[in-house]
Amino acid sequence: MRHQHQVAVVTGGSQGIGWGIVEKLNNEGAQVIIGARKPPQAELSDTMAYHYLDVADEASVEAFFKTVENQYGQLDILVNAAGMMFQKPFLGTSTADWDQMMAVNLRGVFICAKQAAKLMKNRQTGSIINVGSIEGLACNPEHAPYAASKSGVHGLTRAFAIDVGQYGIRCNSVCPGWIETALNQGYYQDEAEKAAFDKAMRALHPMRRLGTPTDVANMVSWLASDEAQWVTGQEFTVDGGRMAKLPNVSV
Ligand SMILES: NC(=O)c1ccc[n+]([C@@H]2O[C@H](COP(=O)([O-])OP(=O)(O)OC[C@H]3O[C@@H](n4cnc5c(N)ncnc54)[C@H](O)[C@@H]3O)[C@@H](O)[C@H]2O)c1
Repeated sequence: MRHQHQVAVVTGGSQGIGWGIVEKLNNEGAQVIIGARKPPQAELSDTMAYHYLDVADEASVEAFFKTVENQYGQLDILVNAAGMMFQKPFLGTSTADWDQMMAVNLRGVFICAKQAAKLMKNRQTGSIINVGSIEGLACNPEHAPYAASKSGVHGLTRAFAIDVGQYGIRCNSVCPGWIETALNQGYYQDEAEKAAFDKAMRALHPMRRLGTPTDVANMVSWLASDEAQWVTGQEFTVDGGRMAKLPNVSV
């Protein structure tokens, strides 16, 4: 098993993409600690644990990583999956909206990565994976703070990687495309709308399906593994080919 004897933290790991990553790393042998504001609804295995974490609150982040250090004594993998999204016209987006998005999606990644790197530095090894987005590469309308936060995550990943490589720590980001989770359910109101939406979304993807948390988790597990030892400071798009395809009327 890829991650045997390893300790992994997954922020925002109680649901969606984060939970998919928790399951994958745990199935591959890691002890996994979920850091989120709410525990998962699913049952935890003996080698999974939940501890409260609000990534927007630095005191909460410090307390969380102190618990990890005290209870597990090491940290091999950090996955920054906690995130939020809202849709608002640019001119209707307040400074408070902007600050809230940055606090969770970008500042949260910065302070969690910093705390994790302090633990990883002790053992001169570790892998940090930040969940960015294809919206850090191109973006949807009315998504200014989200797109800016995810572009920031990709830049932060590179900057972090070049500073911590000397301690044996790698840092990469994954850029998921459309993954079916609670985050994007607001795009349709009812089942009829969902069916039409699904059909249009599939047409955008060369693979002709929508993404799942497992699709992202598989890439994260590889990046966290020794097989990716020579891989750092990079971003990996996991989107069923959507970004490779120019919009075209004849789908
Ligand atoms: N679903 C997609 O299509 C998609 C695409 C690209 C990127 N992403 C990114 O993937 C990540 C996971 O999103 P998801 O789709 O699973 O959404 P989700 O809403 O199902 O999960 C988000 C998780 O983050 C947690 N979270 C939010 N604010 C937090 C905070 N302050 N402190 C701790 N935890 C917090 C939530 O409680 C939840 O567990 C996010 O960073 C999101 O931006 C999602």
